[in-house]
Amino acid sequence: MAGPKLTLNGNEVEFTPGETILQVAERNGVKIPTLCYLKGCTPTGACRMCLVEVKGARTLVASCAMPAGEGMEIQTDTEKVHTARRLAVELLLASGEHNCLVCEANGECKLQALAYEYGVDASRFPGPLHPAPLIDDNPLILRDPSKCILCGRCVQACNEVQVNRAIPAPWGPRKDQEPDQGWYPLVDYDQCTHCGQCVQACPVGALTEKKAMGLGRSWETEKVRTTCPYCGVGCQLWLHVKDNRIIKVTAVEEAQPNRGRLCVKGRFGYDFVHSPERLTTPLIKENGEFREASWDEALDLVAAKFKAIIAESGPDALAGVSCARSTNEDSYNMQKLFRAALGTNNIDHCARVCHAPTVAGLARSFGSGAMTNSFADFDQAKMFFVIGSNMTEAHPVAATFVKNAVLKGADLILADPRATALKEFASTHMQLKVGSDVALINGMMHVLISEGLYDKPYVDSCTTGFDQLKAKVMEYPPERAAESTGVPAEMIVEVARRLAANKPAMLIYTLGITEHTCGV
Ligand code: FES
Repeated sequence: MAGPKLTLNGNEVEFTPGETILQVAERNGVKIPTLCYLKGCTPTGACRMCLVEVKGARTLVASCAMPAGEGMEIQTDTEKVHTARRLAVELLLASGEHNCLVCEANGECKLQALAYEYGVDASRFPGPLHPAPLIDDNPLILRDPSKCILCGRCVQACNEVQVNRAIPAPWGPRKDQEPDQGWYPLVDYDQCTHCGQCVQACPVGALTEKKAMGLGRSWETEKVRTTCPYCGVGCQLWLHVKDNRIIKVTAVEEAQPNRGRLCVKGRFGYDFVHSPERLTTPLIKENGEFREASWDEALDLVAAKFKAIIAESGPDALAGVSCARSTNEDSYNMQKLFRAALGTNNIDHCARVCHAPTVAGLARSFGSGAMTNSFADFDQAKMFFVIGSNMTEAHPVAATFVKNAVLKGADLILADPRATALKEFASTHMQLKVGSDVALINGMMHVLISEGLYDKPYVDSCTTGFDQLKAKVMEYPPERAAESTGVPAEMIVEVARRLAANKPAMLIYTLGITEHTCGV
């Protein structure tokens, strides 16, 4: 069935109820300039750059905030619209000290680009009434309130994207703010994780990355796309490279899995790449001291020792351990070296400790040792059961998607001996004793099976060994599980029932499960 329609610059187009005029325009290739709009967040309508004409409306309307309506006749490119946008640029320029010559954001500033596009070279309005000195109280981020256009994107990036809630909305009259702080967003450093999402969201030079200051203009840098080397989320990064040096890192917008988000490590933790402390030559230990050596010398020495060991004791006297931070290609080569060249299967990987139980458990249960859902699926979940995972610290970007879903109404149950940061978002915290995860899960399965709450068609068609599972689980009534875990039996029953009632539900676990001896 065809959806409702409106007219956009004379063309009839369909839209989905709930879409804004801006979203309909973008989908149809019609460009409307924006400044304060941050995709996925509540529109504030603060900057007035996205104004459009809607036939019959008394004033121009902000397309980022106005829902599309059946039969609307919209013009995005009239003289009236252009005049209003020019005025908006002039007012924003007048609101602060926008000196592009020395601004770190020169070349990336959206206000600068709009002034150029709309031919605004000066403002008719008087300059800023409130002097606003630099705020240099953060090791990573420099704040220049004199360039802040009060668009609110940093507030939204913090509160709605990362959900750190470190930048309270600065609503209220200027006179109520602290002297010298104007009306600008202020940071609560107790809540701030230094993820730098606010910097990425800032459309002007009000928030800039300290480490990148003075190192290069945007047009001098090459953007190289790569994957973050830290946790396993796989965030997509842009390395901004000048003269073969990384001068800053930003997130790739619109790319899975991180959709423009990064944590403090991914965004700011790249110093190691150019650290003078990195080894640049092999070292050979002689008489208890390391000395520098050439690659040829080091490789010959290692090969000779390997050969001697194999000749004396056979290849199984050798073993190799590689690193989880290596690339797939390096890990592949490492196992080839040991299996094919040296002739031993004694090759291992440090993820043996943390991830191997997942691979073994999932491969046995589902046929593949990888997570069964993508981060994009987090949006769809109505309930999360998070056990053994301090997500906000270990996988911060993944945690943002849980927090986003909770803000939209999903239920979160946290099972963890510690009150981790996710507790603030959880409706229930099952504070189990360390190492009692299996008892807790058995207790919950006892409720699901004995009350007939499990998915019977799935069990019948997709599983084997259910009767054995049932027999084992029946040994764990909630009261017994409560004894082992310290979690009240009523809570175990109640959580199991809620888990069954709220679909789709998602299970999230990490090392707090898999690093136990019972991790598989
Ligand atoms: Fe719509 Fe700012 S982008 S009002």
